[in-house]
Amino acid sequence: MTKANSRESEYAIDPMFLDRWSPRAFTGEIIEEAQLLTLLDAAHWAPSSANMQPWRFLYALKGSEHWEEFVSLLVESNQEWAKNASALIFVVSRSFNGARSEGRSSYTHSFDAGTAWGHLAMQARISGFYAHGMGGIKHDEIKEKLGVPDGYRVEAGIAVGRIADKNTLSERNREREFPSQRKPLSEVAFNGHFIGND
Ligand SMILES: Cc1cc2nc3c(=O)[nH]c(=O)nc-3n(C[C@H](O)[C@H](O)[C@H](O)COP(=O)(O)O)c2cc1C
Repeated sequence: MTKANSRESEYAIDPMFLDRWSPRAFTGEIIEEAQLLTLLDAAHWAPSSANMQPWRFLYALKGSEHWEEFVSLLVESNQEWAKNASALIFVVSRSFNGARSEGRSSYTHSFDAGTAWGHLAMQARISGFYAHGMGGIKHDEIKEKLGVPDGYRVEAGIAVGRIADKNTLSERNREREFPSQRKPLSEVAFNGHFIGND
């Protein structure tokens, strides 16, 4: 077992997996594009089915001309804290393989894009940042305003920044600003056949 960050794993995993979590309190500092591209570089080394690399990343840096628009594309409850991130990313995935005209749909595009997000989140910690995933985004508006073509699925948003004191948050967010726990491994990992436990 490994202990880190008020968490404890059942087996001896690397502490980096416990150290990654999703804070909402960010310093709002400006970061260089190269710092964000370092995280996106790690993300795009993720494995994918047939190496199709279906992920696409749309990003805006705080202080840039695109920042306010990106913030406005989050649902309000996420805008409240994510506006203090240093970068916002929307992950989009290509839902077809080969040429569009071939009409071959991909079964794994979302799974593959999720793997890339996982890589990004781990590289963020290694680089001294935190990454916070967001399903609360305006999917249709993102497609329309950021020019995402048909055949691409808007998957999720990501806020990236350096962690700040939780007292900078609203009371509601302050109360949930801690590394969360996990279900027992036996509830999600089954030897041989599925075990229903909902
Ligand atoms: C795809 C995805 C969507 C999420 N959506 C939101 C969101 O809209 N707003 C939010 O505050 N947190 C969001 N989260 C953060 C999760 O609630 C968080 O990852 C989860 O509770 C586990 O906590 P941890 O990341 O701190 O370990 C999202 C996370 C993921 C991976």
